[in-house]
Amino acid sequence: MKRPELRKCMKNSLVPGLFFIIPLLFSHCSSDTPDKKIPTGSDTLVTFSEHIAPILFNNCSSCHRPGESGPFSLLSYKDAVTAANKIRFVTETRYMPPWPADPEYTHFIGERKLTQEQIDLIRKWIQQGKLQGDSTKTPGLPEFYTGSFFGKPDLVIRLQKAVFLKGNGNDNFYTVKLPYSIPKDTFVRYFEFVPDKRKLVHHVNGHLIGYNSMRSFDQYKGESVMPDVRNNFKEHFSKMSLSYTDKLQPEFPNLNPNTVYYLPGYIPPVYPENIGGYQLKKEGAILLANIHYGPNNKDLYDSSYVNVFFGPKPQRPIRELQLGTFGVAPIEPALVIAPNEIKTFHSQWQVPEDISLLSVNPHMHLIGKSMLAYALTPSNDTIRIIKINKWNFRWQYYYTFPKMIKIPAGSVIHVFATYDNTAKNPDNPFHPPREISEGEGNESMSTKEEMLQFIFSFLPYQPGDENISLERK
Ligand code: HEC
Repeated sequence: MKRPELRKCMKNSLVPGLFFIIPLLFSHCSSDTPDKKIPTGSDTLVTFSEHIAPILFNNCSSCHRPGESGPFSLLSYKDAVTAANKIRFVTETRYMPPWPADPEYTHFIGERKLTQEQIDLIRKWIQQGKLQGDSTKTPGLPEFYTGSFFGKPDLVIRLQKAVFLKGNGNDNFYTVKLPYSIPKDTFVRYFEFVPDKRKLVHHVNGHLIGYNSMRSFDQYKGESVMPDVRNNFKEHFSKMSLSYTDKLQPEFPNLNPNTVYYLPGYIPPVYPENIGGYQLKKEGAILLANIHYGPNNKDLYDSSYVNVFFGPKPQRPIRELQLGTFGVAPIEPALVIAPNEIKTFHSQWQVPEDISLLSVNPHMHLIGKSMLAYALTPSNDTIRIIKINKWNFRWQYYYTFPKMIKIPAGSVIHVFATYDNTAKNPDNPFHPPREISEGEGNESMSTKEEMLQFIFSFLPYQPGDENISLERK
């Protein structure tokens, strides 16, 4: 929710001049005057039990329930009535359910979208007085999972010590090392991050440290939790003793990027057995390079952990590349956005061999506005990849295609990203607006600097790839 929008709605709902004021939340965003376009005859009487409960239970309740990420519950008639106007506002603006990718452009696994008909039903329900209807017709709640989506893992990698979250109302960014030691080297099919304080964990971006067992290191040494390292990588990483302890080069071990990823509602993809997977050395660590906690007002400890699911030896390991910041192709022009400017940048990369695209992860920071990615084949065909019409820093999913997308050799992947550095952008971190750029070196990782990254995972193409389903079985 863009807070200023919410606030505006609240303010306008206080109708001055009334004898007493009913502070009806968001009422200007959800006027109760009947909409002429919508028939309100008795044949279309909308009730919670028959029409609204199925929409909310199937699209909202998985997050909006106790202990989950959503800020309030949506499990009953009473819950729905209490939040009715907010629900109408966030569904009409398509802020909820969170799914920034445009489903009219391309489809991904786990897509969340309400149809226009469902959105209209919510509005009608409110206009007709939020009727409950025959409560015996209310469907049961779907079966929700707690903890692991997948069930019992083969291995759990825990924090050495819980992360302390100061209750000071600020966002907190941490870098966390999770060392582990197992009896022998093995293979992993997928990792699952399980948040402890689910209302606070905004997102996690973690890598598997691939220590070379021929060299010396101690994954248990040093700090395991460090505050935001983004301003001083080197110093913080050395405090965490991540490097090898012998004096050979390179000092810093290889990272297998983005093996552990999380944001609310994200469930890791589980590819067919011959696709993907990792080697897990018997001694090693996972580095949550970035774990972002939302603001809270009470001192708390977070003991999130990582579930590990073993699998066969990887046959077709997945590769990952990115265009833009730190990537294989530059941003054109350089990423500098003047104050009060809305500007579009471009990055392009020619695909050297046939590839099969599995997933994409568009990444920008606060003033991102929209992003479009597609490939243009040598025969001038367009292969759609992803379109995000309304960027939201909060919801940066890895989007997995239902089936791999073949991109033939010689195609050019084009990425266009637009930024809004005006004062009108409620997410602008600076008031008045200032020049925002990619920044220098490590600075570019700060949320007040910008980034343009189009991350994608792929395999070298094999005939038939485009027919293999990537849906979780
Ligand atoms: C993937 C998890 C998820 C799903 C699914 C989801 N929500 Fe949310 N919702 C959240 C989170 C987290 C927030 C708070 C952070 C934010 O506003 O971005 C939120 C915020 C909201 C808010 C704003 C609350 C406020 O006061 O700021 C409303 C209203 C809301 N959701 C309603 C819904 C409705 C209605 C649906 C289904 C159509 C839905 N949500 C689906 C996670 C979810």
